[in-house]
Amino acid sequence: MGSDSDSHSDASSVVAIDEANVEDAAEEININIFEELRLPKDTVSSMLQAWQRFLSCFDTREACGSALYGVVFESVPSLQTLFKTPKVIQALRMIDELDNLVKHLQKPKELKQYAESIAFRHLNFEVTVPRAMIFRDALVDCLKAELCDDLSEEARMGFMALFGWVGGAHIYTKTTYGDRLKILRESWTKVSSREKNEEVARIIAEDVAQTANKEEEEKGEKSANDDASEGSVSEDFSDHVVATKQEESQGCCAFLRRRGLGSSAAPSAGGKDGSSRKNVADGAERTAGNASNAMVVPMTFSDMFRFNAQVMGFGVGGWMDQILHSLGDIVMNAADATRLHEECDLLSLRIDKVSTGQVPNLSQFKSCMLASLRSLLPKEWDTNYEVAWNWLWDNVAQLLVKTLGSSMQWEAAVNTFFASLADDTRYELRASIYDRFFASTPAGQEYFKQSDTRLHFIVEKVFTFSMEIYADPWQLIDDLSALGLRHVGYGVPTDMFAPFVNACVDVIKGATEDGIAVIGFRTSLGIVAKQLVRTVAEGSTIVMKAVNANSRKMLQRAISCAPRGQRFQWLLKVQVGTQSISPLYWAIESGNVAAADEIIKDLLAFRADRERYYYGNDALFERHQDIINRLCREAPMLMPTLLDGLIWRSARTERGRRRVNYYVKHLVVNQEGDAAEFLREICTIKDPKIMVHPVVVTVSDTLWNGLVRNHFLLSRLWFLASLLIFMLSEAILPKEPDISSIWEVRLVVFFGRTFMYGVTMTRLLIRFAWKSCKDIRRRKTFKFMGIPLPKHLHNAMAVGNLALAVLLMLMCTYEPMYQCLVSVPKDWPTMDCEDAEDIRWTYSALGLLAMAVHWSLMVDLAVFSTGLSAFVLVCAQVLSEIGRFLVALIFLLLTFGSAISVLEHPYFEMRDIPNSVLCLFSITILLYEDDYRTLMEEPALLTAVLLFVLASSILLMNLLIAQLNSSYVYIYQDMVGFARLNRAQKIVEALANVNKQHWSTFVSSLCFDQPLEFNQGDVGVAGGIQITEPASEHLVLKDSILRFGGSCSMELEWPEEAKKSEDLDKLTKIEKLAKKVLRRVAQEARNGRTSKGSNQGHGPGTSSVSSGQNESRAGMSLADD
Ligand code: HEM
Repeated sequence: MGSDSDSHSDASSVVAIDEANVEDAAEEININIFEELRLPKDTVSSMLQAWQRFLSCFDTREACGSALYGVVFESVPSLQTLFKTPKVIQALRMIDELDNLVKHLQKPKELKQYAESIAFRHLNFEVTVPRAMIFRDALVDCLKAELCDDLSEEARMGFMALFGWVGGAHIYTKTTYGDRLKILRESWTKVSSREKNEEVARIIAEDVAQTANKEEEEKGEKSANDDASEGSVSEDFSDHVVATKQEESQGCCAFLRRRGLGSSAAPSAGGKDGSSRKNVADGAERTAGNASNAMVVPMTFSDMFRFNAQVMGFGVGGWMDQILHSLGDIVMNAADATRLHEECDLLSLRIDKVSTGQVPNLSQFKSCMLASLRSLLPKEWDTNYEVAWNWLWDNVAQLLVKTLGSSMQWEAAVNTFFASLADDTRYELRASIYDRFFASTPAGQEYFKQSDTRLHFIVEKVFTFSMEIYADPWQLIDDLSALGLRHVGYGVPTDMFAPFVNACVDVIKGATEDGIAVIGFRTSLGIVAKQLVRTVAEGSTIVMKAVNANSRKMLQRAISCAPRGQRFQWLLKVQVGTQSISPLYWAIESGNVAAADEIIKDLLAFRADRERYYYGNDALFERHQDIINRLCREAPMLMPTLLDGLIWRSARTERGRRRVNYYVKHLVVNQEGDAAEFLREICTIKDPKIMVHPVVVTVSDTLWNGLVRNHFLLSRLWFLASLLIFMLSEAILPKEPDISSIWEVRLVVFFGRTFMYGVTMTRLLIRFAWKSCKDIRRRKTFKFMGIPLPKHLHNAMAVGNLALAVLLMLMCTYEPMYQCLVSVPKDWPTMDCEDAEDIRWTYSALGLLAMAVHWSLMVDLAVFSTGLSAFVLVCAQVLSEIGRFLVALIFLLLTFGSAISVLEHPYFEMRDIPNSVLCLFSITILLYEDDYRTLMEEPALLTAVLLFVLASSILLMNLLIAQLNSSYVYIYQDMVGFARLNRAQKIVEALANVNKQHWSTFVSSLCFDQPLEFNQGDVGVAGGIQITEPASEHLVLKDSILRFGGSCSMELEWPEEAKKSEDLDKLTKIEKLAKKVLRRVAQEARNGRTSKGSNQGHGPGTSSVSSGQNESRAGMSLADD
């Protein structure tokens, strides 16, 4: 414990070990005293050298950790049962901790703190002197084996002393503080345990009910009973208040004991409605008046605390609340010196923020805390508890007092300093921070490789944080956790933070003479850095490391040691404090696509033991509801991996058919039960290949056939009816000479046209207005030739609808029947009247356009057939080619038409530009009626015409055919994909209008909650749709479910996976061994060369060198192999 270390380091003497007694220190393990370890300088430097050499023998820290772990694990079988954490993790921790110990050798105070924190983490293990010795010897043997002669005797002794000292620290700490920490942890767990508290609440409720019943029976009168009951409780309560005041140190346990609950009274996190969470001070008044209020007896530690604080007259809220809020973290991290410092530093800032200028009286908190604990743990409480809690609080108070009350002046000084900086000074400061940092820690340059402006932005943020932590210490901590997790993603090692903070502080120190500002800046940045370091340390899981390395192999190895029940969690969530990061999302965000791909594959692999199936589909979509959106936008190349993972195909076939399960629940329905965004998102990629993926086809067909088709058809029926009426009233009835004059027919025409204007046109306009308003309200617009238009007009159908509405509007204004109503009311309805004469042609032209547009809009119906739809799309695609051809043709026509009309010639058909153009055009499309021989007399004209024919018919026409041909071939490949894309877009549009009732019925018809069979009788995972497909459609040689025998415990990793990683480890070991042999051989060869160098020129010497070289060469080739 940090406080502990402070208090105890003062007490303990600092003993330096000189050369003479290094040997003694190496031999014995002192468990009676724990003092700073000061080894002679020479010993330390040879240890550091040896350690660096040892680390350099391995490619990675993981490999180094594995070697150490292996030696310790194998050489001490009796300790094997203690190693429960997966090997990869444990090995990494081991190497990190040993590395830190060695690095701290030159700083004995920090070394002691560090050793102490390790010792506190070993409180639960039975560390004994013989075990510590075995451990020490195994580690040193490993160093010796790896370094051979490179490990000097001095360094070996030093390592023996260091590891023995750490072992002694473990035992000393356990005997001295182990019991106290255990008491603290256990008692805190009890007073904050919800289950226990609910049990107490139940007992109290029963007790109150029994008392009330008893009193009822005694008094026999209901109303009187109520009063009596209230009186009794009230009496009890006032008794209690008096008693509490009298026995301050006893808190309210007297009250609970009097109620017969003393032994079981413990706090509660509150009832389900949270009523008991309320401040008990308020409850006290209510309790006095009502029997049922006995339920508000303080049951949580905080309630009890507040209650006692009220009763003791200390008041509640303010600074006390802040400590109360942090107490849980303080108690649970009492063994971690660094963490305790961190908590106390932060707490003191928060206390300063709420206590307006007054330094709080911490002893009040202590007496109230002890009273509350005694009340909640009346049975367990004894002197050991008293000692443990007093010890904790004294240490905490010591840490708090150091900084309490100072933060206000620090805040003011830091703010004033930064506000006084001119822009260019600020710039210089930022630049020199990097200069200093890179000078002290050159490795830091590897992380800060961004542009200059970005680097300045980061340091500016650092300045801001140093101020914000004072302004809002609550919010910033959350932000820092998130930032820390981002640093995990950037792969920043924790030992970079201290030099970075030092660089910052040094630069600020040089820029101001205000000492308070410097202290303020150092303190706040220190807190920020500690928080970041902790988050990085906790968040740097092996999975995150593998993600940062973007290595499939590392990822497989990392995840292979996850307990099977937590495997998905390892891949999807790294939680630190209130913040979490997803390795999968980080892999996507940082562009580590290989890692992301591997994660998705692993999540969507089917694994099974005898008891259950493991499939990460649900875990993935529950954690990342927007996964489809993310993939579509940031990593569409991962989409096929995800979709492939949602299919299971049976290896068995029955009567030529194979079962296929599509796990598409989360692609159809989201967590809220509404339609999922899958199709909408997938349409945004506009990739025809992905549209024909079986999963997309299944989702799309399920929605189309089950829900959208009928809805779509219904919505198109009115359009069909409208076209029919339009045809009758414009193109059929008025054009039939035999019947067009009949009055009834004219009446039908009139009603038909009125229907078109009244219903079709109005409907189209209303829809257009509604959609436009919606888009404008949501600011969804796009610019067309600089004019902002609502987004729905991006769609060709919407433009077609608008065009039809506008044409109908114009037709309505020109409608001859309406014009004739005024002039010939007798014959009416008719179109033949004088008033209508002038407008009839315009009207008919508008009718022509409207009819064409109306028919074109019917193309939409092609969506019913994928083939037809594909054909329509192909036509639309090749239109662009035709457009280009037409432009070229018009150009040629104008060129030749103009040229020919300039020429003096007698040929009447080509007398001027329009006639020439018309004539040339008919030649191009082979509709020219005349003969070329008529032009024989005019060679110039004939030449021009023939040149035109050459350019248009031979060149342009053939070019067009060739282009159509090739683009058809190209488009044809994806034609079905495009058709499906089109249908998917229709489905998305239709889903927005489906009512909730229809949707729920449809979803329940899919039975997503029913597990699907894999094979007969083998009931598997729910959330999918099962179909059968022809066996020949896909080749499935092996069942894709990975089945494992052995134990079915969810705590265990998958055996095969573990074996696979063991195999990998073995391979790595062999590789290492081979490298080592090669190194030795090469070294021996070198030695041989040197020793025989003097004999150079002599036969044997020469042969020896060349044999050494040969060996070395052989070694190289082996290594390459
Ligand atoms: C008190 C210490 C530090 C603070 C307050 C801090 C703060 C920040 C902030 C605010 C960002 C931008 C966050 C983002 O946009 O994701 C950032 C990014 C970064 N930091 Fe730190 N940082 C600290 C220490 C370090 C150290 C010691 C290193 C490594 C030597 C480091 C490496 C990085 C890197 C690599 C980035 C990403 C830059 C990018 O990709 O644009 N940071 N840091």
